[in-house]
Amino acid sequence: MKTSIAFLAPIVILSFSKLVAVQSQSSDRNGRGHDHHNQKPNFLVFLTDDQDLHMNSLDYLPLVQKYIRDEGTEFTNYYTTTAMCCPSRVSLWSGQFAHNHNVTDEAPPHGSYTKFVAQNLDQNWLPAWLQKQGYSNNYIGKFINGVSPTLKHAPKGFDKDHWEPLVEPNIYTFYSPTFSTNDGPLEAHSGVYQTDIISDKSIAILDGLAQNKSQPFLFVISPTAPHDEVWVNGTSGVLFTPPIPAKRHEGLFKNVKVPRVPNFNPDVNDKPSWIGALPKLPDSEIDRIDAKYRARLQSLQATDELVERVIKRLEHNGQLDNTYIVYTTDNGYHLGTHRMYAGKQTPYEEDTNIPFIIRGPGIAKGKKSSAVATHTHFPATVLKLADLPIPDELDAHSIPVLENKAIYGKDQPTEAFAVEFWSNAFFEDAIGRFNTNDYKSVRLIGQGYNLLYTVWCTGEREYYDLVKDPFQVKNIYEETPFNVLDRLDALLNVLRTCKGPTCRDPWSVIHSEHLDNKAFSNKKSHKRVRSLKDALAKKYDAFYASLPKFTFKSCMQYYLPANEITVPAF
Ligand SMILES: *[C@@H]1O[C@H](CO)[C@@H](O)[C@H](O)[C@H]1NC(C)=O
Ligand SMILES: *[C@@H]1O[C@H](CO)[C@@H](O)[C@H](O)[C@H]1NC(C)=O
Ligand SMILES: *[C@@H]1O[C@H](CO)[C@@H](O)[C@H](O)[C@H]1NC(C)=O
Repeated sequence: MKTSIAFLAPIVILSFSKLVAVQSQSSDRNGRGHDHHNQKPNFLVFLTDDQDLHMNSLDYLPLVQKYIRDEGTEFTNYYTTTAMCCPSRVSLWSGQFAHNHNVTDEAPPHGSYTKFVAQNLDQNWLPAWLQKQGYSNNYIGKFINGVSPTLKHAPKGFDKDHWEPLVEPNIYTFYSPTFSTNDGPLEAHSGVYQTDIISDKSIAILDGLAQNKSQPFLFVISPTAPHDEVWVNGTSGVLFTPPIPAKRHEGLFKNVKVPRVPNFNPDVNDKPSWIGALPKLPDSEIDRIDAKYRARLQSLQATDELVERVIKRLEHNGQLDNTYIVYTTDNGYHLGTHRMYAGKQTPYEEDTNIPFIIRGPGIAKGKKSSAVATHTHFPATVLKLADLPIPDELDAHSIPVLENKAIYGKDQPTEAFAVEFWSNAFFEDAIGRFNTNDYKSVRLIGQGYNLLYTVWCTGEREYYDLVKDPFQVKNIYEETPFNVLDRLDALLNVLRTCKGPTCRDPWSVIHSEHLDNKAFSNKKSHKRVRSLKDALAKKYDAFYASLPKFTFKSCMQYYLPANEITVPAF
């Protein structure tokens, strides 16, 4: 079915057979596989663009399954906390929620790489921390959105020679990509497939890194599939069309359709604001949705081949055993759910719950973990695996990826996080732009609970119990008792502005005032509140009922703190 990848650009294959010595590995007491020379591990990250988990895209990637899923652990409760590429990518590398890094949109003035750099965020992020410890950091493909062709220099933390981002307006034009090349001329290609160029460049970079194995590396490979093709054509504005597959993958998956799950184009669309007003999608739109779905899967086939080629090369170079390999994406994607045409940007599972698979020394093979994690957890996860100090200002602690959990010590498992959004929603490749899509949610998973509670900028609220309603078909806000909602309102109020330790243990903020209060701190009966289950104790009902509630004053397209307030309890 698959043809082997063509070498599209001449690349120099150097012979390192004399240099390649298989490093002897042994697990230390913490379960990490460091070698005898205390060599730091390498990190190789495959970062795709808009890849869904909920439409089963991973099932169509046999090589990702073979080389990463079967050899590693898949985290099924892994989320982006802002369902949009740019804010999501900034959270992934900075370990901050969007309300802290404030890169809240794709384009200026409220988002893009320009806003990222303007705020000096590249001085305090994972690449900079790793570089200080001697890492070589390398990046190829789509970076934080909006890298302009006039931008000449790598952000702080990246090796100048190996920062090769795709640049505007040719980031998503599959057969005519343009790369920036460290202060040199732009490298524009025509007629060659983006993922294949990235694959060739990746092999060359890996071979360069193998020349000095005592220097550990971070290498991020970020092709844009299965993102739509995007053209900025003359006066017609920005045009989204389905992704273009490599020629050898055209026509695959002929009979495949978007899974017809209970929330796919439902008869009743029990949703607030703009989503609730959507009409049912007609058959012609559904045909378009299915065709786009096939194009997405076809476009990912070259990525699947790239994964195999890169991992085999890493093995050939003798560096596989000391490398953690991650496969993830920036945010999820929906096609037809809740009557929405193609896109992301909503608080629902399709857009936020995303693939995250990791393999490497000390990580269980062929396992799934339900530990709750987000992109914001990623920097601490890498630092922990590298046995490096973790800055206290990070908004999330390490994901417990290693089989030996003792290493995670007192880290409180994550139970809840905020999902946040401040921009328009829009349908790709269709009419529709919606300016009432600002919202804040609490997403909570733990100890028998699986909940999504959302406050919209319109004042509407919605609440789903995903244990009973995994597809979030029925909004049960109206029929839910106030004692539960009062807890979620309090939690949302902390999570929407939390920073560092208060994000990692939000209940400690709510219960700190009355730790000294006699009514609550009776030494014998007092138990620290660390979860929703603890907080639901009846003795706290009056306290939670009295707390102010979060609300937006109006729908704005950016994060203005004065627009986000609390009002006295209803
Ligand atoms: C976020 O950035 C916007 C401009 O894009 C600014 O007006 C706002 O005050 C910033 N918010 C915070 C919390 O700094
Ligand atoms: C290899 O990397 C180490 C660690 O960064 C560095 O000290 C050393 O000089 C490098 N060796 C060569 C030959 O570049
Ligand atoms: C945009 O223009 C390019 C170059 O003229 C053309 O190849 C491409 O098909 C156009 N895209 C769309 C969506 O019209």
